[in-house]
Amino acid sequence: MGDGNISNSFKEKGNVYTLRWKKNVLELIDQRKLPFKETYVKCRSVECVAKAIKDMVVRGAPAIGVAAAYGVALAALEFKGGNKEEFIGHVNKGIKILSGTRPTAVNLFWALDRMKGKMAGNRKLEVNEIKEKLIREATDIEKHDLEINFKIGHNGKEILNGLGSKLRILTHCNAGALATSGYGTALGVIRDLNTHGNLFHVIVDETRPFLQGARLTAWELYQEEIPFFIISDNMAGYFMSRGEVDAVLVGADRIALNGDTANKIGTLGLSILAGFYNVPFYIAAPLSTVDIKIESGDNIPIEYRDNKEVREILGNSIIPEFMPVVNPAFDITPGNNITAIITEKGVIYPPYKKNIIKIFKYKS
Ligand code: MRU
Repeated sequence: MGDGNISNSFKEKGNVYTLRWKKNVLELIDQRKLPFKETYVKCRSVECVAKAIKDMVVRGAPAIGVAAAYGVALAALEFKGGNKEEFIGHVNKGIKILSGTRPTAVNLFWALDRMKGKMAGNRKLEVNEIKEKLIREATDIEKHDLEINFKIGHNGKEILNGLGSKLRILTHCNAGALATSGYGTALGVIRDLNTHGNLFHVIVDETRPFLQGARLTAWELYQEEIPFFIISDNMAGYFMSRGEVDAVLVGADRIALNGDTANKIGTLGLSILAGFYNVPFYIAAPLSTVDIKIESGDNIPIEYRDNKEVREILGNSIIPEFMPVVNPAFDITPGNNITAIITEKGVIYPPYKKNIIKIFKYKS
């Protein structure tokens, strides 16, 4: 369990980290270059953070939220002088830039709202004091995210243990330490299962087109010696049909009140396969990923990304330029296809609307 004695979180290892705030600079591991190169992008401005989010230097719903919070802190630090109205205007401009980066993961807007709230709540203070408050808030968001992941890992392990031992878990995309401030959501559960000996292996979907599974999830698992193998996305049905998958476990970018869940493109197909073959299908996500303002998945905005991501693999063209391509980055898995949603406050079962409202009441 995530009890502070974790040696398998990058953060604890101290050598590799997803993001780090050091001397008023945000350092981000460049996830576009992994697994071949471990390099860091250093951001000193809000524009740099916005570009890093848009270009997928940093990705994964919780990590995007944490990076954006630091982006707001950088917008505050950039401002010179003591005029409070101008300062607030400048920070709000930064928030607007950040909010235009990626539309689907609600954690981005959740983190920006928290930063806005912190600024509004401290309006009476001097500019320098508000700056300090904003830095502190971003740091708190980061720390809290790590703690939440440990709790999700623990809660998920308890549930998945009930499925038996020597579990073979299939995951899609990357919901690991790289997608959060450390440890991970779906991969946090897998880390916990591995520590407690209930994991046999992880089946890693490569996750076309950006290859978050093959490049990032596999990289995390390899470093921690967690057994895994990579498959291309179209192989998942084969393994399920042979009874070789005990559960599918993925993260989320936004969860509607009725349990409909936006996650990496391909998740919907996996959930349908899992239903067909009677394989339990779990989502692991912090409550900050639940958008209680949204009734159903129909209202979740889906990001369409540059066609180049489909046209090319690692910079090499695989499709002639004249051929049309479309690149939706996420799909919506209906709540009906989801066995349960694992959160830091406990596991949510259907009926989702009733039980999500209940967990939010309990939370506050
Ligand atoms: O486009 P990405 O790489 O940001 O998409 C990431 C995912 O879909 C993850 O599964 C999700 O954000 C959960 S990360 C804990």
